[in-house]
Amino acid sequence: MSSLPKVIQDRRHTQSPEIDHSTLSNYKNFKVTNTHLNIELQFDTKKIVGLVTYNLNVLQSVSKIILDSSFLKINSIAINDKDIKSFKINEREEPRGSSIEIDHQVNENDELNLTLNFETTDKSTAIQWLKTESNTPDSVDYIFTQLEPNHARSLLPSFDTPGIKSTFTAEIKSKYPVVFSGLSLNSSNVENNNVYKFEQTVPIPSYLIAIASGNITSAKIGPRSTVYAELSVLESAKEEFSQDIERFIQVAEEVAGPYIWKTYDFLINPFSFPYGGMENPNITFLTPTLISGDKSQINVIAHELAHSWSGNNVTNASWEHFWLNEGWTVYLERRIGAKLHPEPEKFRSFEYLMGWNDLVESIKQLPKFEYSRLIQDLQNGKIDPDDTFSSVPYEKGANFIYHLETKLGGLEEFDPYIKFYFNKFSKQSIDSYQFIDSLYEFYPQKKEILDNIDWELWLYTPGLPPKADFDTEFVDKVTTLTKEWISKANVFQTVDEFKSHFTQISLINNYNEFTTEQKIYFIDTLLEPLESTPKFWSENSIASDSILSIYQDLETTKNTEIKTRLFKFKLNAKKTKFYQDLADWLGTVGRMKYVRPGYKLLFAVDQKLAIDTFNKYKDFYHPIASKLVEKDLGLSK
Ligand code: BES
Ligand code: ZN
Repeated sequence: MSSLPKVIQDRRHTQSPEIDHSTLSNYKNFKVTNTHLNIELQFDTKKIVGLVTYNLNVLQSVSKIILDSSFLKINSIAINDKDIKSFKINEREEPRGSSIEIDHQVNENDELNLTLNFETTDKSTAIQWLKTESNTPDSVDYIFTQLEPNHARSLLPSFDTPGIKSTFTAEIKSKYPVVFSGLSLNSSNVENNNVYKFEQTVPIPSYLIAIASGNITSAKIGPRSTVYAELSVLESAKEEFSQDIERFIQVAEEVAGPYIWKTYDFLINPFSFPYGGMENPNITFLTPTLISGDKSQINVIAHELAHSWSGNNVTNASWEHFWLNEGWTVYLERRIGAKLHPEPEKFRSFEYLMGWNDLVESIKQLPKFEYSRLIQDLQNGKIDPDDTFSSVPYEKGANFIYHLETKLGGLEEFDPYIKFYFNKFSKQSIDSYQFIDSLYEFYPQKKEILDNIDWELWLYTPGLPPKADFDTEFVDKVTTLTKEWISKANVFQTVDEFKSHFTQISLINNYNEFTTEQKIYFIDTLLEPLESTPKFWSENSIASDSILSIYQDLETTKNTEIKTRLFKFKLNAKKTKFYQDLADWLGTVGRMKYVRPGYKLLFAVDQKLAIDTFNKYKDFYHPIASKLVEKDLGLSK
C-alpha cells in the first residue's frame, strides 16, 4: 500500500481490497480452487436441481462455513463426501438473503470439498423461465440467468461476492441446447444424453456465471466468435454483428493487452432480457433490441467485449467499487470505437457528449442524490446494489479515467499505463484504492500531478463532475438545428409554415446525413427546454406536430434508442394518441433501460394506463425488472 493523498488515505479501510458487506458469507477465510456444478434444468417444474462442489483451501481457521442463498432449498450438505447434519438456513434478511451456516471446524491450510445439494424455487431472482413466441406456431421453453450484481445466491448456494474467484467445471442437463459462461467440452457430433459439459479455466466471480437453454441455434461469425440465437433471429443477428466482431477484439487487444478467454461468443436472448448486454465470460448475453438493421448499437458489443479486461479479468472487489467495472469499460468501449473511426478523437468526444446527457438525466432520476457518488456507500450491505444502479458509475467513471488520461499527458502517456493496470491486477478483485496505488506506482515522476487531482470531488462528492473540454464538431450541426426549433417554436401558426421554414433549415444543417447517434442527440437536445419549462412542447403544440411530421424517419426507425426518446418527446408534448402506442410497446421489451423510464413516462400522463399496462405484462418481465418497476410506480416499497 502506497501512501495516498490524505483525503483518500483517511477513507481507506485497513484491508485492501475492502471487505464486501453485500455478502453474508465468510469468504475471506477461504480460497476456492475450483467449483463444480452438476445440475438439471427442469422445464416442467421450473426448477434447477442439482449440486455444487467447492474445493476449498482454508486461509484462516474458523468454526463455521457460511454461504449465501436467496430463495433456495438446500437438500443436503457434505464435506469430503460425508453428510453434514449441523447446518441451518438463517432467517432472511433484506437485501442479502438467507445465509447458510455450517458448523464445522476448519483449520488453516486444510483442503476440503464442500458439496451442497440444492434446488431453486419460483421466487428465484436469478432465473427467468419463459415461453418464446419466436418459433410460432409452437411456443418453446427457454431459460436464462442474470446474476449481476448479487443474484448468484438465488441460483446456487455460493460465496456470492465479486471479491472471490474460482475456476469452474459444469455438467448441465437439459432437453434443449445449453450455453454456459465457459468453453464447451462437448463435441457436437457425439451423443450427449442431454448433458452439456463446460469448463472455465480463468477464475471468475459468482456474478459471472451464466446459463441459458432453449431452442438455440448458432452461426460462426469470426475466427474466435459464434453467435447463438433462436433460428428466427439468427440471420439478422449475423448481419448486424459479424462484420465488426473480430476487428473489435483486435483493437481491444491493442488498447488493453491480450484477450485471455480464447473465444468471444454471444447469445441473443428473448425480448424480456433485462439489460442491453451482460458480459458473461465467453458468452455475452444480449437483448434483441440491439438488432436494428443499421449496426447503430454496435457500441454495446464493444462495451461487453471490453469487460473481458475491466470487470471479468480485473474485477471490482465489492459493489461499492462498481465504477471500476463500468467506468473503465465505457472508457475502453470508446477507445475501441474511436480506433475504428476515421476521426478518432472527434468521435470519442461525441460519445462522451452523448454520455454526458445520460449522466445529467440519470442524476435527476436517482432515488437518492447520494447514489451519484463514484464510490458508493452501501451501508454495510443494508443497501441493495440493484437500487443504486444508474449511469453514474458508467459516465462519471469514464469521465474520471478520461480526466486522468488528460492530466497525465494524453494518450501517449496513458496507453502504457492501461496495459500495466490490466496486467498487474489480472485475475484479481480490487478496490478503488488499489487502482490509485497503481497510478502512483506507474508514474513516480508524476507524483505532483496525481497529488493535485481533486480526489475528494471525483470519488466521494455526489453530483455532476467537472466537464472536460470535448470537441464539439459532431454535435454543432445538431445543436444549431435544435436551437432554431426552440427559438422559433412559437413563431409560426401552421404545420405548413413550420415545414417550409424547417425543411430548408434541416437541409442546410445536413439532417439527412446525420448518423443515428446524431439523431439521438437531436432529440435529446430538443428535450432540454423541458428542464426549465416542463410544458414547452405541449404549449408549442403546432411546433411539436411539425417535428413529428418533418422527421418521419424517426418514426419508422428500428433503433430503440431513438424510439424511446421519441416517446418521451410525444408524451411530454401531450400527444394523447401515442399513449397507447407506448403502452403496447412496453409489452414487447423487457430491457430495463427502456421499461423503467417508459412506465414512469406513462405514469406521469396517465396513471391508470400505466398501472393497467404493468399488470397486464408483469409476467413477461424478468423478476428483477418487475420488482423495480413495481417500486417505481409506487406499487411496492
Ligand atoms: N454489466 C452490465 C450490466 C449490468 C450491470 C447488469 C449491473 C446487472 C447489474 C453491462 O455491461 C452493461 O453495462 N450493459 C449496458 C450496455 C452498455 C453499452 C452501457 C446495458 O445493459 O444497457
Ligand atoms: Zn458494462
